[in-house]
Amino acid sequence: MWTRMRRASMVVSLQTAMLLVLVLVLVAMSMSCASRTVSVTRSEPLEPGSARAESSRPLGLDLYRPEPADNPTVPATVTLGRRLFHERLLSRDRSLACVDCHRPDRAFTDGRAKAVGVYGRRGPRSVPTIVNRAWGESFFWDGRIATLEAQVLQPIVAQLEMDLTIDEAVERLRETSPYPAAFRETFGRAVNGDDLARALAAYVRTIQSGGSPYDRYVWGEPAALSKDAQAGLELFRGRANCTACHVGPNLTDEEFHNTGVFWGGQPYDAGRVLVTNVPEDTGKFKTPTLREIERTAPYMHDGSIATLDEVVDFYDRGGNENPFRDRDLRPLRLTQEDKTALVAFLRSLTGTVTDGR
Ligand code: HEC
Ligand code: HEC
Repeated sequence: MWTRMRRASMVVSLQTAMLLVLVLVLVAMSMSCASRTVSVTRSEPLEPGSARAESSRPLGLDLYRPEPADNPTVPATVTLGRRLFHERLLSRDRSLACVDCHRPDRAFTDGRAKAVGVYGRRGPRSVPTIVNRAWGESFFWDGRIATLEAQVLQPIVAQLEMDLTIDEAVERLRETSPYPAAFRETFGRAVNGDDLARALAAYVRTIQSGGSPYDRYVWGEPAALSKDAQAGLELFRGRANCTACHVGPNLTDEEFHNTGVFWGGQPYDAGRVLVTNVPEDTGKFKTPTLREIERTAPYMHDGSIATLDEVVDFYDRGGNENPFRDRDLRPLRLTQEDKTALVAFLRSLTGTVTDGR
């Protein structure tokens, strides 16, 4: 009995010792975690749902901003990406940076009907705004690219845009301060194409528009919209059926539709069918966001419509009739008053554009 108790107490003390070791290990681990947390805090990550992320998200947008696991939207990457977005070395003749076509003073478009690349080369399509593309599900007017990381290298290699190979771009950056050091600091290695894409994509994710009169109205400030704009919103959601496609926080379903813009367009651009080869996709283009729409004229994938009044006239006649036209489009028979209201509503989508956070 006595020995059994002693043995029991020895077992207990052995357990206590093991517990002590375990506690020590845990403390050590949590200390190393703590030091890791400190270094993370220093670079201020925008964790989805963190206080900082919430406070920097303009009113009206989802608080959760998607990002790939291998490219978090951390300030170091964003800052490098922002610099690269302004870097003219990334074009063949060193004359053109992303920012020259996606101009912040025009809500990241260029004000032209069609893009103009190096040596004045004319592209076939209009420069879209790139606000809120963090929430994009596919990229380009025909959605041919699946991720932002893949998208951002395309304009560099496009002959009608910047016309440089990625190898040449990497070589130029390796020879130019501050890039070798900046890439090493941010990614822990020499300049390379994948990290170039990561930095540019991370920056593009931070380009946001929200906090417009429309958002304030929806979030409980009735006076934020004029009577006209309120009537326009009612039409937009109701009789004019715009929300069949322009829905959600970003006013797009991220789907492809044939509104007939391409019909008769020069040169002929068949849109989505070029990607899918499905005949029904002929003339379909991605529904664009309508945020900042007042600032991004001219409109449509080919820049063929100059003003918002003309866009509303276009929808009033049901778009351009063609064999593949979307079923959600039909003549609307809007009065002049209705049209004025719709345009007033579209103008209420001009908000605050932020980048870099
Ligand atoms: C010569 C003008 C030009 C330059 C320079 C340019 N872009 Fe663009 N960008 C366009 C055009 C035009 C499109 C649409 C092309 C299409 O849909 O086929 C586009 C599309 C995009 C899109 C997709 C938007 C969406 O909604 O699908 C993103 C993102 C983008 N560009 C980012 C960039 C970045 C990053 C750079 C610099 C590396 C850049 N662009 C340089 C003209 C330009
Ligand atoms: C069937 C889907 C659909 C409906 C309904 C629809 N749109 Fe669109 N909208 C699109 C697509 C797709 C485009 C791009 C077409 C293109 O460029 O060829 C577009 C483009 C636009 C543009 C130009 C955007 C830009 O950046 O160039 C505006 C403005 C617009 N729509 C407003 C409206 C309004 C207002 C209504 C309601 C009267 C409406 N849309 C109804 C799908 C739709």
